[in-house]
Amino acid sequence: MIALGSDHGGYSLKQEVKAYLEGKGIPYKDYGCLDETPCDYPVYAKAVAKAIVDGECDKGILICGTGIGISIAANKVKGIRAAVCHDTFSAQATREHNDANILAMGARVVGPGLALKIVDTFLHTEFSGEERHVNRIRQIED
Ligand code: RB5
Repeated sequence: MIALGSDHGGYSLKQEVKAYLEGKGIPYKDYGCLDETPCDYPVYAKAVAKAIVDGECDKGILICGTGIGISIAANKVKGIRAAVCHDTFSAQATREHNDANILAMGARVVGPGLALKIVDTFLHTEFSGEERHVNRIRQIED
């Protein structure tokens, strides 16, 4: 189950991500926001982060204008590793090396075509499980 969240700046790209996930038969839960009325990204970052640490969802996708504010907020939650990615190389690397559990993107930075490729890469790349990466992730969590 994929947890989705955005602020008003990311709302329309989140709708594109939802259509993409539906097309692929990938289940998701939308934790808001629900329209383009100005709102506060930490609210949705925390809701998605909580869904993951509570085990309701496996991974999350967070979208704001830049991807930055919403990722900073999500990374305040212990156990969350949110990565801002605006290219597929980073999306692959952050899964393989950091075991990132949230992908953050900026709707004012990337168009929907690239964003959906990034989503696809993030969701379909496994953590390498290599000892050096496991050790580094443990140090983040300590
Ligand atoms: C909202 O205007 C904007 O600040 C927000 O979407 C995000 O880019 C913050 O990091």
